[in-house]
Amino acid sequence: MRIAMIGSGYVGLVSGACFAQFGHDVVCIDKEEGKIARLRKGEMPIYEPGLDKLVADNVKAERLSFSTKLGDAVANADAVFIAVGTPTRRGDGHADLSYVYAAAAEVADAIRGYTVVVTKSTVPVGTGREVARIIRETQPSAEFDVCSNPEFLREGAAIEDFMKPDRVVIGVESQRARDVMAGIYRPLNLIQTPMVFTNIETAEVTKYAGNAFLATKITFINEIADLCEKVGADVHDVARGIGLDGRIGRKFLHPGPGFGGSCFPKDTLALAYTAREVNAPQTIVEQVIEVNNARKKRMARKVIDFCGGSVKDLTVGVLGLTFKPNTDDMRDAPSLDIVPALQSAGAKLQAFDPEGMSEAGKLLKGINFTKTAYEAAFEADVLVVITEWHEFRGLDPRRIKQVMRQPRIVDLRNIFNPEEMRGLGFTYEGVGRPQ
Ligand code: UGA
Repeated sequence: MRIAMIGSGYVGLVSGACFAQFGHDVVCIDKEEGKIARLRKGEMPIYEPGLDKLVADNVKAERLSFSTKLGDAVANADAVFIAVGTPTRRGDGHADLSYVYAAAAEVADAIRGYTVVVTKSTVPVGTGREVARIIRETQPSAEFDVCSNPEFLREGAAIEDFMKPDRVVIGVESQRARDVMAGIYRPLNLIQTPMVFTNIETAEVTKYAGNAFLATKITFINEIADLCEKVGADVHDVARGIGLDGRIGRKFLHPGPGFGGSCFPKDTLALAYTAREVNAPQTIVEQVIEVNNARKKRMARKVIDFCGGSVKDLTVGVLGLTFKPNTDDMRDAPSLDIVPALQSAGAKLQAFDPEGMSEAGKLLKGINFTKTAYEAAFEADVLVVITEWHEFRGLDPRRIKQVMRQPRIVDLRNIFNPEEMRGLGFTYEGVGRPQ
């Protein structure tokens, strides 16, 4: 199959490289000339484990190429995937679809022969129909079908998620388009991946419902963690105790400082917005948004209380700034609430993140970024773990204790063992564990 991927951002690039790995002929398109030039040189615009090698291998095998010329790639394609950004619109919180619709109009102009146009970006219900309308209006004679094929990959594990998905959801309404989509995903038959074929609206809702459910699950365990702290229970045991019930499931029951990232905050907002528009308010999701925002703001208070009510003139060391490990993504990261609040309370901040410091430097001011985790702990009065990077678990607590001014840790991801830390002489507080 010949595939044109419109948009070489996170989803476009990962999907494009993975489709090439499936054996298809893929051109990844982007308007940004600089980005395409860098990709041609093998430089990745994002940090994603394994992506550079996957891209290099497929470029070498001549299955993957990069271009700013949408027209040629679309004219030659069996399927065109629209994977441009859908940021939150300023003012009302809805998804901004201007890039999707602009891409649809450009694609419409370029279509030659039967083409399946697939929305891969996360788009509110109704977008697929609108894309079809735009294409019909722009080129009435175009032979095409529109499909919705939402993406379920997680940053940091994107390639694995793409190559071994739990399922593939395809909203499609003609047999011809269904055959093309089935052909594109055929390699996944070998690993017996369930294919869920639905109508277009159902596929669109499925994406939002999935993310909203996961965001709800996290928010639920975060509130249970608060309860555990008050009554002397351990949230990890509670999570295990409920998670072993197959109806609940163990995943996404890890408490923390609140969910962030480019998906959950944006998608829950967009779902709530769409639902209000059609008068089917999603009150649970609206609560989740509110509770999560409040939680991110409250985490600085937790640190201040832990330090006896004030962090004025204290040095706070921070481990981890990105919204989760294995990414350099800072979008809606809890650190963006926690760090400024501690600074306003008079603390001096020093922080280390394995991949996120360059992004963080654009968003957080007045921090001393250090070269190692130990330097972030150096002469600190308290150390706050915000992101659970794997390498932090391997730090030597004795060495941390040695370099700190006061051996105190607030572990917002529960990466350390409380008994061990207390045994070593730390004053230690996690999330949802007996204090
Ligand atoms: C999420 C979904 O997990 C993917 O399935 C989906 O495809 C993607 O959004 C998307 O819509 O594109 P992602 O945002 O990359 O993926 O990251 P997650 O691993 O889901 O984490 C999101 C946030 O929830 C992070 O801030 C993380 O720290 C937090 N989280 C996650 C918890 O606090 N506890 C958990 O148990 C799990």
